[in-house]
Amino acid sequence: MNQINRGGLEGIVAGQTSLCTVGVDGVGLTYLGYTIEDLSEHACFEETAYLLLYKKLPNAIELESFRERLCKQRDIPVPLKIVLEQLPKQSHPMDVLRTGCSVLGCLEPEAGFAEQYQAAERMLACMPSVLVYWYHFHNSGQRIEVETKSDSIAGHFLELLHGHPPSELNQRAMDVSLILYAEHEFNASTFTARIVASTLSDFHSAITAGIGALRGPLHGGANEAAMELIDRFQDPDAAEASLVEMLARKEKIMGFGHRVYKKCDPRSDIIQVWSKRLCEACGDQRLYPVSERIEQVMRREKRMFPNLDFYSASAYRCLGIPTAMFTPLFVLSRISGWAAHIFEQRADNRLIRPSADYIGPEQRNWKPIDQRG
Ligand code: ACO
Repeated sequence: MNQINRGGLEGIVAGQTSLCTVGVDGVGLTYLGYTIEDLSEHACFEETAYLLLYKKLPNAIELESFRERLCKQRDIPVPLKIVLEQLPKQSHPMDVLRTGCSVLGCLEPEAGFAEQYQAAERMLACMPSVLVYWYHFHNSGQRIEVETKSDSIAGHFLELLHGHPPSELNQRAMDVSLILYAEHEFNASTFTARIVASTLSDFHSAITAGIGALRGPLHGGANEAAMELIDRFQDPDAAEASLVEMLARKEKIMGFGHRVYKKCDPRSDIIQVWSKRLCEACGDQRLYPVSERIEQVMRREKRMFPNLDFYSASAYRCLGIPTAMFTPLFVLSRISGWAAHIFEQRADNRLIRPSADYIGPEQRNWKPIDQRG
């Protein structure tokens, strides 16, 4: 049995990328050679997105011009607003983003690959508007203006959601979270986007497919699932007792484990610090201690470590973000990584079309319908 037969393409090199690596041993993370520690300490999300899209850090003029272009493209067309209004209130916001992206592909189709950079910038700029316009229409009964004075996606999103500018702490926390979620090599949603791009399909189709792949709880949906887990417990002791039982039943604990990291997810250490800061700032005395205890139990019982999604959950709760919007926030950031991979795939394209080991029946004779059992 060859390696592919173990399923899930584990350990299979499925292509080349110059965008991101977790290193040969899966112990670090760099975007275009810059460590995630440096980026989350010194960069803003827009610098990070520029780095991914244009493969260089922007200088001051380039960054300002990039920010200006994004700010100018935040509004969404009326037909898209009408579609968002027609979607059910109960829709999952990931479905809303998937639909919004697809509708945008009808209203503003990419005329050719030469327009791919404009398509990526437009998508980065306007997807927060899609999400929050739909949210407010159905939850506060308002057709909100999707413009704010904030020149950052982090500040803009929080202001659209809450109706007032965020504190400096909250804005920076969101900015760091967007940096951490921006890119991650050949993860499931990025690979999906690359597969779609490899058929020479359009930009919106590739991103729409990426959103679909990200939605599941084994991938991006884990931050939402982690929050639901943490919310079950009033205190750390209750969390510990329940976790031990869940593990005995061989249940999966969302927000733990990773396909490519074997010792730790370097992004988790960074978001954990922010989670602690935010919990202290908002005076919450449950979320962080419960999360920490879950982490301790997982390390002790399973030798497993939290991935980026686990402490993102408590951080997002402190930022006042509804749980169902956790994975959509991942989308707002990951558009930058998906776009960069679509560009890379197109620049040296070959159709991605693997083979399968056939395990079905031998060739057999056709039976007319009246002779079948
Ligand atoms: N909780 C408990 N046990 C786990 C967990 C977990 N979170 N993750 C893996 N395991 C166990 C499995 O049960 C399995 O045990 P077994 O060998 O006794 O059957 C073993 O570890 C290997 O697990 P797989 O699922 O085969 O590992 P794989 O590499 O396929 O999966 C994945 C990686 C999907 C991330 C997995 O660890 C998981 O399901 N985690 C929970 C979901 C999650 O947090 N996803 C977010 C990923 S990061 C991101 O998208 C930002």
